[in-house]
Amino acid sequence: MSKKYQVVKGFRDILPPESKLFWLCEKLAREIFARFGYQEILLPTLESYELFARSIGTDTDIVEKEMFIVQDKKGQNLALRPEATAGVVRAYIDGLSNQGPAKLFYFGPMFRYERPQKGRYRQFWQIGAEAIGYPGPGTDAELIILLDEYFKDLSLKELDLRLNSLGCKQCRPAYRESLVSYLKANQASLCEDCQRRLNLNPLRVLDCKNETCKAITKNAPSPSEFLCPECSSHFDRLRNLLSSQKVSFQVDAQLVRGLDYYTRTVFEFQARTGLGSQNAVVGGGRYDDLVEELGGSPTPAIGFALGVERLTLLLQEKIHEQDLISGPDLFLIFAGEKAYQFAFKLLFRLRAIGIYAEMILDEPSRSLRSQFKVADKVKAKAGVIIGEDELQNQMLNLKVLETGKEMKLDMESLKKMSGIDWEEMKSHLSTPGFAFASPEYEQTLAQNQALFKLLKIYLIQMEEQEE
Ligand code: HAM
Repeated sequence: MSKKYQVVKGFRDILPPESKLFWLCEKLAREIFARFGYQEILLPTLESYELFARSIGTDTDIVEKEMFIVQDKKGQNLALRPEATAGVVRAYIDGLSNQGPAKLFYFGPMFRYERPQKGRYRQFWQIGAEAIGYPGPGTDAELIILLDEYFKDLSLKELDLRLNSLGCKQCRPAYRESLVSYLKANQASLCEDCQRRLNLNPLRVLDCKNETCKAITKNAPSPSEFLCPECSSHFDRLRNLLSSQKVSFQVDAQLVRGLDYYTRTVFEFQARTGLGSQNAVVGGGRYDDLVEELGGSPTPAIGFALGVERLTLLLQEKIHEQDLISGPDLFLIFAGEKAYQFAFKLLFRLRAIGIYAEMILDEPSRSLRSQFKVADKVKAKAGVIIGEDELQNQMLNLKVLETGKEMKLDMESLKKMSGIDWEEMKSHLSTPGFAFASPEYEQTLAQNQALFKLLKIYLIQMEEQEE
């Protein structure tokens, strides 16, 4: 036997039907982004290592411990992106900044060399948005309201919005001083990393995952206590705007986020249950200095990123995977070679007009019974039975698989039904002669008008047979 290969540790295959859940999350996000005026940006997954070190910060866990670094043939250090904000800002400065502000969204994989566990992977997907050139706090509120709507649409209620302000260049020094003196008093108990970070980048001590450090930082001073008047009124206004939209939130004085670029507003949506310690579904915040730090002109900005795996873990608790499998509208069941030829032609015609149709393509002599079994297995809604009889007597024989109800229509009825308009046809559905459809089936078929389309195409094909 040849060697079998396994997926790389911390990486995952997203198989159907889970992939469908991903797609649904993306689809819904796209709809909301469109309504809120965000446009898609497609970015490379590989960027220069320095871009991330400069923007996320060299003392952060992400840059210190979690980067997938690649060297190209010229010895240049590149990295698989651990997040997309840095890339969006680079691209904005490069190609969009001359057009003014931009509201952008993205969907794609990110890479962090973390210890894998539930909700934490080395490749994971993010849906993110960045509003560049918007000073806020109206835009801060807009992004949060967008997320609130998104979660409402997904019927996810068990999420808490946590909010804080980290202040700006003006208020940071006083806060830093106070934090350093608090941490110095507890220096001996801090982990090795934090002892080093204490002087270099004390804010990073606050997001250390070590339990002893966490216990110490629990009572550390908060940046929100040191806000300058501008930052303070920004934060007040944001909270007022959110309250006016009935978006509930909790101010979390200890929320600092693990990336260096944040200023003023930071926020997370955290799951109350279902995700264990990896409970942050969304992280975001303002980064008013980053565009300038990466070589652009001073431009305020804010954004967020949502972890798709964490979202689908929450959704999987609500949605049964089986419900994600939607079977074909029609399954064509044939008896004999002539019927196979007829069904084969009908199949592609139906698909061409938007109907999800299936048949067994590779076994023309399969029995009717076993074709029905397959149709049931793939959850087909209805079967079209094409046998000698149907071809000879020019009949449409349709069976609603869920209920077992059958409908047989001759050419005359077909002509009558396919010649009328859909609304009129719906009224015929309830007349005794046409009482083939269960209310549910009528509903599903009426939605995509699959039956109506089938009747027309079937009629055309039968008439061709005559010629
Ligand atoms: P972040 O908090 O590092 O922020 O990541 C955002 C979200 O990505 C997290 O809340 C989580 O749902 C998901 N996530 C992060 N790491 C993992 C992992 N190893 N496995 C699974 N999911 C993960 C950022 O990435 C910022 N760029 C967000 C941002 C955009 N801020 C401003 N603009």
